[in-house]
Amino acid sequence: MRTGTGINTEQKNILVTGASGQLGYELTSRLRQRHGGDHVIATDIRENHSLADSGPFEYLDVLDRKQLEDIIEKHDIGEIYHLAAILSARGEREIEATWKLNTDGLLNVLNQARIKEIKRIFWPSSIAVFGPDAPREQTPQNTPLNPNTVYGISKVAGEQWCAYYHRRFGVDVRSVRYPGLIGYKSEPGGGTTDYAVDMLRTAINGQTFVCPVGRNTRLPMMYMEDAVKASIAIMEADPNHIRIRTSYNLASISFAPHELARVIQQYTGFRNVDYAPDERDAIAASWPDSIDDHEAQRDWGWNPDYDIKEMVQTIHQAVTAADVPDK
Ligand code: SER
Repeated sequence: MRTGTGINTEQKNILVTGASGQLGYELTSRLRQRHGGDHVIATDIRENHSLADSGPFEYLDVLDRKQLEDIIEKHDIGEIYHLAAILSARGEREIEATWKLNTDGLLNVLNQARIKEIKRIFWPSSIAVFGPDAPREQTPQNTPLNPNTVYGISKVAGEQWCAYYHRRFGVDVRSVRYPGLIGYKSEPGGGTTDYAVDMLRTAINGQTFVCPVGRNTRLPMMYMEDAVKASIAIMEADPNHIRIRTSYNLASISFAPHELARVIQQYTGFRNVDYAPDERDAIAASWPDSIDDHEAQRDWGWNPDYDIKEMVQTIHQAVTAADVPDK
């Protein structure tokens, strides 16, 4: 059995879909450190040179069932991190493509898991499952899920599909509702919460940042290190401890753009932020301010490491030391 503490010596390998994405890049890199580069198969429709250099990389459109099946067979896959998706802001511009990729892509993976008896699946849900009628503060695990966005609708449906495949076919699929993810090693794309990454990058480059989210619009956020830690922790937890088979609430930090700008100013001296809220502010305003994640803490020991200051300081130090990998 894979121990999770070193190089994987067992037969079965790990597949990551959407590996070139913001989370995919960092999660694949960490999984390769833990299990060995050859045992983690990175896939995407966009090639990433850094990932292609550190282990196997395959073109994969998760909507192509045959391609997915062939890759699972070719690489003897026993575990899948299924990350390929279109995020919230882009989703509002590409309604049908978002529904199709986010929902049919997941169904294709769940069906392969059932047929091929894949040991375990990770699939990310999001704070976007919540809509305006969920409590804004400390949003609980179980509350009305009436999202405003196609992305949110696809995540609510996806959560139900995960619970269904677990109940009906015994597929061991595990999920967390990620807040906005903030990292510096990979490019975000199409998300509402991406503004935070853009603000940090612009500040470090000393330019003026025009923020598309209103200065007081608070959102739950998380440093990428914690997001990677959560994915691996839930996947390595004892199956008997996973009591929620839709998706776990997950929390770390919450802030509004002006609060992030203030912390960035402390570390970089940067103070040039203008606010020009666009349609992303309306999406953000429909999501919670903060999340109650006590179930994740109780069931599989979730505990984030970074607050907002530690996150900004870490990113600032890393970027100014030019510790950014070639892409
Ligand atoms: N970060 C995502 C987005 O902004 C939410 O899960 O779309």
